[in-house]
Amino acid sequence: MSAIATPEGTYRAAADRYDTTLAYRRAGTSGLVLPAFSFGLWQKFGTDYPYETQRDIVLHAFDLGITHFDNANRYGPPHRAAEKFFGQVLRRDLAPHRDELILSTKAGNPIGPGPYQRGGSRKSLLTSLDHSLRDLETDYVDIFYSHSPDPSTPLEETVGALASAVTSGKALYAGISNYPVERAHEAAVLLREAGVPLLVHQPRYSLFDRRPEHDGLIELADQDGFGLVVYSPLAQGLLTDKYLTGTVPETARARNSAFLSPDVIDDTYRERATALDELARERGQSLAQLALQWVLRLPQVTSALIGASSTWQLDHNLRALDFPPLTETELALMDTYGVHGTALRI
Ligand SMILES: NC(=O)c1ccc[n+]([C@@H]2O[C@H](COP(=O)([O-])OP(=O)(O)OC[C@H]3O[C@@H](n4cnc5c(N)ncnc54)[C@H](OP(=O)(O)O)[C@@H]3O)[C@@H](O)[C@H]2O)c1
Repeated sequence: MSAIATPEGTYRAAADRYDTTLAYRRAGTSGLVLPAFSFGLWQKFGTDYPYETQRDIVLHAFDLGITHFDNANRYGPPHRAAEKFFGQVLRRDLAPHRDELILSTKAGNPIGPGPYQRGGSRKSLLTSLDHSLRDLETDYVDIFYSHSPDPSTPLEETVGALASAVTSGKALYAGISNYPVERAHEAAVLLREAGVPLLVHQPRYSLFDRRPEHDGLIELADQDGFGLVVYSPLAQGLLTDKYLTGTVPETARARNSAFLSPDVIDDTYRERATALDELARERGQSLAQLALQWVLRLPQVTSALIGASSTWQLDHNLRALDFPPLTETELALMDTYGVHGTALRI
């Protein structure tokens, strides 16, 4: 891979970026493939982290063959900062590669006190998309998501806004996130009727959040022909070895994020995570690599949507698929310790 930390504007993408072992997997029955690992800019891509470090991570991801970068109008802090950051990198470094990138963004979760700064109305979604295009400094996003279901807006209206985004050329594909199974099915049907098939659903899925297995979402993906882009597959870092001793490292998310509280690191968490870590070590891999390999065992999972606060984490995590497939015995053991709800507060 090419060296990174190049001065701004001098980035040259690694010539061998597609020679990696990173697989590209088809999103449902669509024509689009996504990298087995997609990169998300939820945390540490606002104004709270050094720009040069953020830029190195994004460019390193691209050098490793990651083509898909996931954003949302909310990501920061403050809201919209992560899109503005990515817009700068796109303009200064990645512009020659825009056709190689799958950029996604989302709207619908609150970004301010105003009535159109939240929810699934046509007004809220389409005005947010215009702001995202401005901030990302691009004419179109590849995937536009409804970030969460909004029970106070007719689904027809939300889905109609997604379809409009696609037919107007501001997005190439439509996605939904955090939709419960029944509503996801209804959205898929409505989108198909509108001639804009649902490309992907983005749920949370990890060894500690097994809801997609329990509620039928995996089966629905097959039935309705969409892919799953699963977020927080490392449970925000809890499925790595960094919290196993019980102390929270100074720079870790559990110390500096509003979305991960250190009090989830309790005895039950440690017992389960330690057992999983031991299995990983027996297989010659890390807990992070085991947890990522595990979510990607399912063909319905198009991509594991990961975060990283260093290029080291990216290098390390992307090796997850270099290990032998998980055996039935190992999967059964993982079921014992990969208990739904572990360390989950929401
Ligand atoms: N649709 C939605 O509602 C929604 C919600 C949440 C997230 N998402 C998307 O999913 C993306 C990924 O979410 P996530 O960041 O929670 O994913 P994750 O992959 O579960 O967690 C990533 C974090 O774990 C830590 N980490 C990663 N690899 C590590 C390693 N090898 N050793 C030690 N620590 C390691 C890092 O945090 P530290 O180093 O800072 O501790 C890293 O930022 C987001 O960026 C966003 O795009 C979507």
